[in-house]
Amino acid sequence: MNDLLPKLRRAFIGLDNRYPLADGSSRQRIYLDSSASTLMMKPAYEAARHYLRHYANTHTSVHTSARITAQTMTWASETTLAFVGAEPQHYLATFLGSGATAAINRAAAGLAALRPERDVVLVSSMEHHSNDLPHRHHNNTVAHIPLRGAGAHPGTVDLDALEALLEQHQGRVNYVAITGVSNVTGIINPLKAIADLVHQHDAYLLVDGAQMSAHAPARLSANNIDLYAFSGHKVYAPGSPGVLVGKRELIAAMPPHEVGGGMVGAVSKWGYDLAAQLDEREQAGTPNIVGTITLACALKALQRADMETIFTQEKALLRWSLEQLHQCDTITLYGDANASERVGSIAFNLGDIGHGLVAAILNDYHAIAVRNECFCAHPYVQEMLSDEFARLNIDGLDNQQINRLFQDRRGMVRASFGLYTRREDITALVAALKDIETNIDHYRPLYQGDADGHYRHRHFKPATTDIFDIEQTLNAQLDALCNR
Ligand SMILES: Cc1ncc(COP(=O)(O)O)c(C=O)c1O
Repeated sequence: MNDLLPKLRRAFIGLDNRYPLADGSSRQRIYLDSSASTLMMKPAYEAARHYLRHYANTHTSVHTSARITAQTMTWASETTLAFVGAEPQHYLATFLGSGATAAINRAAAGLAALRPERDVVLVSSMEHHSNDLPHRHHNNTVAHIPLRGAGAHPGTVDLDALEALLEQHQGRVNYVAITGVSNVTGIINPLKAIADLVHQHDAYLLVDGAQMSAHAPARLSANNIDLYAFSGHKVYAPGSPGVLVGKRELIAAMPPHEVGGGMVGAVSKWGYDLAAQLDEREQAGTPNIVGTITLACALKALQRADMETIFTQEKALLRWSLEQLHQCDTITLYGDANASERVGSIAFNLGDIGHGLVAAILNDYHAIAVRNECFCAHPYVQEMLSDEFARLNIDGLDNQQINRLFQDRRGMVRASFGLYTRREDITALVAALKDIETNIDHYRPLYQGDADGHYRHRHFKPATTDIFDIEQTLNAQLDALCNR
């Protein structure tokens, strides 16, 4: 029996935050916005804070703290590979930018430069913009792969449609870019089957693991994934970089993307040699050392707590949560309800109440933090809303009312889980949604909507600096220093 996991679930910074509410009371915040960013894992943060005593630059090699730093960064790299199930002799981990977006851009630019004659990239229709726009930007033609299912209930990538596209563009497809887990519906794509199909057509597979890494094992070697990108801030390590894990041979063949210090050998006024070490060549400049180490600590902790168990328990919590949400009479839940592989990201709407209004009331009256709108996945969300849009009745409405109606419907509310999400949180969410359904006529006049579908409470406008003020916090530290 693993006794770390239950303890780790409570070891996050900010779980006990209390925030003021519009009714004058205050309540412990329930954080259901982990798909955007997860909270900080305390033991990982503490371990990295201890490392800071030895902080030095990775490009110095002679003194003791530089050697401690180099050794700790090697550990971070090895830990990351082990976490995503990538055999170190075949795969390399590089740490880039501030999230998956940087890693995906690096992959897109590198693959486009590697095989310019292959001018087609296939991208699924459920992607976050960060796994769609980089391919449009760096490549000639992007074709979107349809999904199984239709309307509000799409499922995974349609493998038959993928095969048809690979055949239609035979010899021209450079790579296929697909998310491991949808950031809207939490649906998991069948990565091994996709990889097999893609490789039969001599294309590469790039997996966006931004929503997978904290929730499900990625199994890179077993699934034969060529490139895998994810964000540290979505795996309990805010302030950490993006990560690109890829097959060594493939990364070595891609021309470098960024140039500068650290990624070169000899440099003269007339030319330069690339660094012999592939990880150095891939990471120009000084890496985000503290962020990388914090991230690796979080990954190691998850591995010790056992990712398979985390995955199984999250799927069970999700199933239970979806059942509970059906207590809300007017709820529409998006995504294939029967998808067997799905983790904790639930997108929904509540009757004809605007997504922005639901999210605002959840925050202001229930201290429940969720995200709303289109979650940087506009085509996917709009496809799911298309039937509802077609049914909207605008007879007798003026332009302003029509605009409000469309803004209210042009999005969803998303409740997304982290390791700290408990049944109590979902019970509180369901109670809050039922309260909104019942009392919406009381709430509506209290809010002012804007042309973008956002809602602000007319009277409840607490200054965030009353809750937290960074300058005051710094001043307190400086004063304590002076008084010591
Ligand atoms: C599926 C998916 N891919 C990519 C990204 C981009 O990640 P980042 O903002 O960390 O670069 C996100 C962020 O929400 C995401 O959910």
